[in-house]
Amino acid sequence: MSPQQPDLFTFNQKHLLGLADYSADEIRYVLEQAKTFREVLDRPVPKVPTLRDKTIVNLFYESSTRTRLSFELAQKRMGADVVNFSASTSSTKKGESLKDTIRNISSMKIDMVVSRHESPGVPHFLTRCVDAAIINAGDGAHEHPTQALLDMFTMQQIYPDLKGKKIAIIGDISHSRVVRSNLIGLKKLGADIVVCGPKSLMPIFVENLGVSVSHNLEETLAWCDIAMALRIQMERIGGGTDLFPSLREYHETFGIKMSHLEKYPDFTIMHPGPINRGVEMESDVADSDRAVILDQVTNGVAVRMAVLYLLSGGARV
Ligand code: CP
Repeated sequence: MSPQQPDLFTFNQKHLLGLADYSADEIRYVLEQAKTFREVLDRPVPKVPTLRDKTIVNLFYESSTRTRLSFELAQKRMGADVVNFSASTSSTKKGESLKDTIRNISSMKIDMVVSRHESPGVPHFLTRCVDAAIINAGDGAHEHPTQALLDMFTMQQIYPDLKGKKIAIIGDISHSRVVRSNLIGLKKLGADIVVCGPKSLMPIFVENLGVSVSHNLEETLAWCDIAMALRIQMERIGGGTDLFPSLREYHETFGIKMSHLEKYPDFTIMHPGPINRGVEMESDVADSDRAVILDQVTNGVAVRMAVLYLLSGGARV
């Protein structure tokens, strides 16, 4: 299959648990479909009835702004019936297990589940509990596949072919599910990748994933076409604040600054959000015309519409 001939390609995935399970052709196909939905979002009435016979639950055990709202918006733009589950206001608080929770929800005739959970492997567990299609919206430090898909979609708006493009991912590489999904997806599309950050936030053997490692921000920014900064995942580090001396010192060494934009005029800045302004980048950098951070958010709705469309059986747009 080539992206120019999407009609010749059969998409056979039932779930989206991680990009590790998707081939390069399947990733390209999702991104190709997302272009159509991106155009839908620019229409005066940005709606299609594609999912009007589907019921979807957004099962969120962990905090979210972008992922949760963009999934809900995508579902509503496509006419689905949507119910939202939030662990903090549910019977989870009374001791109900995840298995009982999902089986009870499934009894209400649910077609698809969008799952975010702090534990790696929860979406895989859900596939063994219910028949619904499962979409991973982030499972611990494991994968966040729709984030990586929207990141790649945004990169393709600048560089339609990512083969050989120089992508730097900067920050907390050890604890990030976003970096894991991006490394898997970008490698499949042929990008050259450097991960950059302090040794204490770099997984051992990360080179085995086919990426280069740098601890030098200046060299990395001088090299790259795109620099994606990542938040330090404090919620996964726990008490491990000894991993770096202080946030101020981290910013001094690995934060992107306005002076970098002047010195290296070509690279584009991305960030999956949420941003900690003044840590991974200066506030003015996030708001500069070199950043496509809000484009990532807009594209997230289109990419999630494409994923929902394909996993629902792919009716016509
Ligand atoms: N990028 C991302 O997953 O953001 P949220 O945690 O707000 O969903």
